[in-house]
Amino acid sequence: MPLEQSGKALGSEEPQSEDRPDITVCSTRTVGRALARIVGDQTMTNTSALAQAAPFSESERNAVYKAIYTRRDVRDQFLPDPVPDEVLLRLLDAAHHAPSVGFMQPWNFIVIRAPEDRERIWQAFSAANEEAAAMFSGERQSTYRSLKLEGIRKAPVNICVTCDRTRGGEVVLGRTHNSSMDLYSTVCAIQNLWLAARAEGIGMGWVSIFHDADLRDILAIPDRIEIVGYLCLGYVEQLYERPELEVKGWNRRTPLEEMIFDGKWQGDP
Ligand SMILES: Cc1cc2nc3c(=O)[nH]c(=O)nc-3n(C[C@H](O)[C@H](O)[C@H](O)COP(=O)(O)O)c2cc1C
Repeated sequence: MPLEQSGKALGSEEPQSEDRPDITVCSTRTVGRALARIVGDQTMTNTSALAQAAPFSESERNAVYKAIYTRRDVRDQFLPDPVPDEVLLRLLDAAHHAPSVGFMQPWNFIVIRAPEDRERIWQAFSAANEEAAAMFSGERQSTYRSLKLEGIRKAPVNICVTCDRTRGGEVVLGRTHNSSMDLYSTVCAIQNLWLAARAEGIGMGWVSIFHDADLRDILAIPDRIEIVGYLCLGYVEQLYERPELEVKGWNRRTPLEEMIFDGKWQGDP
């Protein structure tokens, strides 16, 4: 598959840190080689693997916040331009560098490009969306029906992100008392992907209006694997400045101060 073959392109552009020209953003393979040199025969627990961790320069910091604040969920602004494999691999590598409970890395990424597959998936969305619309009434239902809530056919690349809950064996460090931690880890991978996509000029939309069984059937996903996210990706020239659901009157951002509690729970009991 071309996506795997082009893996070598990943390390080809390695931006330097402005603060630390000695530090390079590396491909996994480069990091692996460097680490092997550092640790030699010793185990990975050796603290000699520590590196300096200075704050980012102002422009680097601004770039991180820019990605966070200007990231949007995209449904309709996708351009038809193909996303090159090496760019997609950069995004997936960013996702693969997310934190995970016990370093379990429970995710997989099913990349779906074929229009006929995306059409089948859109049909599944469409049926589920009709059911969803019926759950609202009156004006809320008309607003719901006016919203476009997916870009499955318009975005040239779709990715189904899954979580293999059996990957670390029965007992996983950190998941011993909360079994959901593997799912949360997978969501971290999706957020990494989302932010990296923004930096690449690629929009991403998360579609959750499906019957799980439909996606499972179309994508041949076994029962033991959890479906965490269905994502639509493609280049964009324009993004909403605020969440589209706010622009279209569905909801608005809650003030931050209502979200922060001091020392203990201060919300409704
Ligand atoms: C778990 C999750 C599921 C979502 N599912 C959908 C969806 O099915 N359809 C949709 O249009 N947006 C979906 N979204 C996007 C949200 O509507 C969006 O993040 C929110 O309105 C805020 O907008 P912003 O992401 O542009 O800041 C989902 C987001 C998350 C995190």
